[in-house]
Amino acid sequence: MWRVGKLFSKNVSVNRFRVDDLAMKVFNFGSLNIDHVYSVEKFVQPGETIASLEYQQFCGGKGCNQSFALAYAGADVTHVGRIGSDGAWLKTRLAESGADVSLISAGSEPTGHAIIQVSRDGENSIIIFGGANQALNEVDVDHILKVAEAGDFVLTQNETSCVDVLLNKTGKNGLFVIFNPAPMTGSVRDYPLDKVDLFILNESEGKSLTEKSASDEILDAMLQRYPNSGVVLTLGERGARYRDKKLDISVPAEKVDAIDTTAAGDTFIGYFLAELGKGSEIEYCLRLACKASAVCVQRAGATDSIPKRNEVLYPTI
Ligand code: RIB
Repeated sequence: MWRVGKLFSKNVSVNRFRVDDLAMKVFNFGSLNIDHVYSVEKFVQPGETIASLEYQQFCGGKGCNQSFALAYAGADVTHVGRIGSDGAWLKTRLAESGADVSLISAGSEPTGHAIIQVSRDGENSIIIFGGANQALNEVDVDHILKVAEAGDFVLTQNETSCVDVLLNKTGKNGLFVIFNPAPMTGSVRDYPLDKVDLFILNESEGKSLTEKSASDEILDAMLQRYPNSGVVLTLGERGARYRDKKLDISVPAEKVDAIDTTAAGDTFIGYFLAELGKGSEIEYCLRLACKASAVCVQRAGATDSIPKRNEVLYPTI
């Protein structure tokens, strides 16, 4: 088993060492949502009432989707999250994916949910209600600290409470901290982002965080602010880029007809990190993640659209 050491502190992406008896773990501190998905001709406009063409309910949430993708891609992932009594089925579904769900608590709050419009061309528009996701607290963070070991990955997004506490307590602590600032909010700028080892963000999150618009400018600005971190910038149909102080890599996206882009970014993140944890080169991880997202966008729903490992072709470099 390849265990990833301090990836970005020494020889950047290929700095890894071998241990035979320990598997690298991923602790994903993230949301679980019930997704209410409405298929529409076009997104509803202010003052308008429209009828949906179809309604479906799915297991979702950026955190949950990313745990599914990690598990399907072969990572040892523990999801740290919270649901209400109406969300027990989400925990059951996530457990079926192979993820460890023992650190998902249940409370009196309603489970988080999302209202998602999906248009004919596969684009989505999402409103989330935090619910139980916003009741995660420092105790949940401490659960990770009790069991995580040096070199383990700690992943989070921006759909739960306590993200700042998580970054503060786990960052620069021997753990490898990955932050996906989605959805982007004003409070992200106040988080201790200097504790992050790897950022994974899309263009709109990158623009909002750096106030730059071209991908090169976003990457430059991120590296200027966080010189010891790595940055993955996802570009949708244009592929993905990776930059750190030594590497600058771009890969193209697969050309497919999208029917629903929900969870494509989450699929990318899960596959990218699972492969990175195995010690693969960054370019290979990016290419694999693009292939996995291309499968995802050709299917409807969130976790239901995430491909299993045997459904994703091996990339050639
Ligand atoms: O990234 C897609 C996810 O965003 C959906 O599953 C929805 O729950 C929202 O969190």
